[in-house]
Amino acid sequence: MGRIYNYLVAVASAMGGFLFGYEIGVIDQVLIMDSFGLEFGLKYNHSVNGTLVKTPNSADISGWITFTFLVGCVVGAALTSILADRIGRRYSIFVGSVLFMIGGAMQTGASHIAVLYVGRIISGMGVGLMSAVVPLYISETAKTDVRGTLISTYQLMITFGILIASCINAAILSTLTGDVEWRLALGMQMVPAAILWGLIIILPFSPRWLVDRGREEEALQSLAKLRSAPADSEAVRTEFASIKESALHEKKIGSVTWLELCKAGIRNRVAIGVVLQCFQQWTGINVILYYAAELFKDMGFSSAHAGVTFVIANAAINFVATFPGMWLVERIGRKLLMIIGGFLMGGAHMLICLFLGLSHETPGLSWAAMVFVYVFTISFASTWGPVVWVYQSEIFPMRVRAKGTACCTMSNWIWNAIIAKITPIMLTSITFYTYIVFGSFGIIMAIFVWIFVPETKGKSLEDMDDIFGHVPGEPVDDIRQKSIRDSVIAMDSLKNKPVLH
Ligand code: BGC
Repeated sequence: MGRIYNYLVAVASAMGGFLFGYEIGVIDQVLIMDSFGLEFGLKYNHSVNGTLVKTPNSADISGWITFTFLVGCVVGAALTSILADRIGRRYSIFVGSVLFMIGGAMQTGASHIAVLYVGRIISGMGVGLMSAVVPLYISETAKTDVRGTLISTYQLMITFGILIASCINAAILSTLTGDVEWRLALGMQMVPAAILWGLIIILPFSPRWLVDRGREEEALQSLAKLRSAPADSEAVRTEFASIKESALHEKKIGSVTWLELCKAGIRNRVAIGVVLQCFQQWTGINVILYYAAELFKDMGFSSAHAGVTFVIANAAINFVATFPGMWLVERIGRKLLMIIGGFLMGGAHMLICLFLGLSHETPGLSWAAMVFVYVFTISFASTWGPVVWVYQSEIFPMRVRAKGTACCTMSNWIWNAIIAKITPIMLTSITFYTYIVFGSFGIIMAIFVWIFVPETKGKSLEDMDDIFGHVPGEPVDDIRQKSIRDSVIAMDSLKNKPVLH
């Protein structure tokens, strides 16, 4: 019962993930709409066999439409490093949703390609900012034993956004024609952004950020509200004391600069977070999501099935399979889940490749290839999909948390852009052997996690230094002893003050 408010806060902020998912789910279908192609010069106004002919600039324009968004995402993720500390996590989520709304409105109303590109960059900035700050915010508000599950709601909402976008697109494609078709598909993204604005009202400030800013009374009240317990209860007092202890320790080390990310005890966390996000992209999830329709068509399925039925089925599987991941992350832990996921996805890619190859001789084997596409999606959704976001949001100490998670999130978007660029080239040059490349990454990432990635399940954010190493500064024992004393004194003085509601 006491956890309901905490869950609500996580789900509300995770709406930021829904916007992310909707945006990536909607654009693929919009790019193939005839009305959109005619408006922005991707298609000529004459058809061969009932299909409009593509202009020579078609690939370039659609490439730029994808690329401008990803550039915005990288910039937005970088912005997190400044905004999340200065204005706080809660207002940063708000800024992200405002940017998303402005970008969405520009894309919906665009009559010139330049307006569309600028709209894509601005929406991307909103998505990039929220993709770093939402998991970070959830990690700072969640109770330790459910932190992994709650951060995973962010991934759940991404997959929900992709699913809803695919369904809306399918409905629009089968009922509407003309301009309204693509404008409605793009315009719909403003609805969840408006819902997020409304939900921000129920989001409390992160207690850890408040302590860092010296707003201790507010921090205590926020923590008590999140834990649905009185501010002077034993549990809230102990957790608050530990947050404060950590903040005091971090203040002693001095002011925060980017160079801090290179210090012993921090650089290992940055390296692990950045590599995990790079690997998350090399799982090939976006290749499966973006190219699923074409892949199914190549397998010999009809366009209607390939473009709509199978794509929606894949999006639905991606959503549903996130639930076991949310449960497992707190049962078997982050490390084992990533190891299992790496091997499963690696194996699935290899089998997709094998059956695609064999299906040239025996067409019936296309079905087997399709089954392994779904096996891959299930494996991603229940392992690396949620876990990487969980991991990057929990490993950094408060003073560099915003900068650290910004770096990891930038790695996610940069690799997303690189893979989007090189996949079509790989698919044309080495065809279905592309899946061997992604499959090999699955195996490599499992081994990497096995050797280099420590388990963080069940540890509080304040305990992470014990796992990754302490930042050089004052002797840890002296600081601990003194700050614990300070915390207890502070708690006692707060206890005597009237409780704010
Ligand atoms: C990844 C995205 C991907 C999405 C699909 C996220 O965790 O970072 O690149 O499109 O999952 O579910």
